[in-house]
Amino acid sequence: MLNVKALYTEYPNDKGEIVKAAQNVTFEVPEGKLFTLLGPSGCGKTTTLRSIAGLERPKSGDITVGGTAVYSSSNNVFIAPNKRNFGMVFQSYAIWPHMNVFQNASFPLDVGNRKFSKKQIEEKVMRVLTAVGLDHVADREATKMSGGQQQRLALARALVMEPKLLLLDEPLSNLDAKLRERMRFELKRMQRELGLTTIYVTHDQSEALALSHEIAVMSAGHIVQIGSPRDIYERPRNKFVADFVGLTNFLDATVEAAETTTEGGYRVNSTIGQMSVTSFEQFGKGDAVLISVRPEDVELYEQRPEGVNVIAAKVDFKVFLGEYMDYQVKVGDHQVLARVHPSFKASVGDTVYLRMNPEKCISIQDDTKYKKAA
Ligand SMILES: Nc1ncnc2c1ncn2[C@@H]1O[C@H](COP(=O)(O)OP(=O)(O)OP(=O)(O)O)[C@@H](O)[C@H]1O
Ligand SMILES: [Mg+2]
Repeated sequence: MLNVKALYTEYPNDKGEIVKAAQNVTFEVPEGKLFTLLGPSGCGKTTTLRSIAGLERPKSGDITVGGTAVYSSSNNVFIAPNKRNFGMVFQSYAIWPHMNVFQNASFPLDVGNRKFSKKQIEEKVMRVLTAVGLDHVADREATKMSGGQQQRLALARALVMEPKLLLLDEPLSNLDAKLRERMRFELKRMQRELGLTTIYVTHDQSEALALSHEIAVMSAGHIVQIGSPRDIYERPRNKFVADFVGLTNFLDATVEAAETTTEGGYRVNSTIGQMSVTSFEQFGKGDAVLISVRPEDVELYEQRPEGVNVIAAKVDFKVFLGEYMDYQVKVGDHQVLARVHPSFKASVGDTVYLRMNPEKCISIQDDTKYKKAA
């Protein structure tokens, strides 16, 4: 449905230097799917979205929607943003102050090419206002709304047209935690029900994991990994992705041998001892790798359990967090974080045993290529 190929977008900064905001950005979004651009502040998410919307003119690349080019540097195509018929919510959303809530939401239907009856408009508008929780204030002047309400109104206005492509730039950023979670749920339900092809921009990894069919993780203008939420979380391809998406333990290690019994398995010598690990890349004996293990994949026991990757440690610190507990344990000088059920009880200074399923110990290349943007 949407095809973005080798997109480069640059800006001149105050000093006249070139800021490479989006570099060789390539991805594809099938019809009806929600695709997220995820990354830290300044990595190029908004730039990419604005390029798709036609609000920035990229330096080069191709963008096609449903097989039709809306931008192509080689064929000199640039369709004006208002001709692209996309629904949009910007990071700095804009609502019309001289209209009430209902009028703001119905505006795209009033001015659009397709004509609707009064009853149809009423139905469509109340449906989206209900979805964003603003149906009870439909008559209120838009200026008399809080920031979070205005943001929800902007979202309702983008949804009401059921656009062929919906572009959302941090649409939930101004909401408190509870409301954000509810809206996240509503948005997902509506997107799935209406089958709206959506590009979603966020720096919030839990939002990305919860909403997306696919996620592209961006760093310093580049896409560093594309995959399903599960892929991105469980099979990070590099240190940047493992670090940015979720919490993880990193252990330096050297490859000793390929495991003969399991595919993609290796024996490594790590800073906390010998381990069996999994890899999605080929490594050779002597290669330096980084092992990523999520805190929830580090099991803790009071007695030495059966199995592989069992290592003795000392409890250094613990934090009670309600539904789980974080144990900071030490293996020699090395810290490991374990997230366990609160029923596990050990005291600071106690000896405990770690067990890590080899399938959850992922060896990756230590990439220095993609630095975390400031
Ligand atoms: N109009 C502009 N002129 C000059 N530089 C710009 C302009 N817009 C963005 N940039 C720069 O381009 C880079 C990418 O910016 P972009 O707004 O795409 O980041 P982002 O990923 O959306 O970040 P955030 O999460 O903070 O919104 C940054 O270095 C930014 O400073
Ligand atoms: Mg942005």
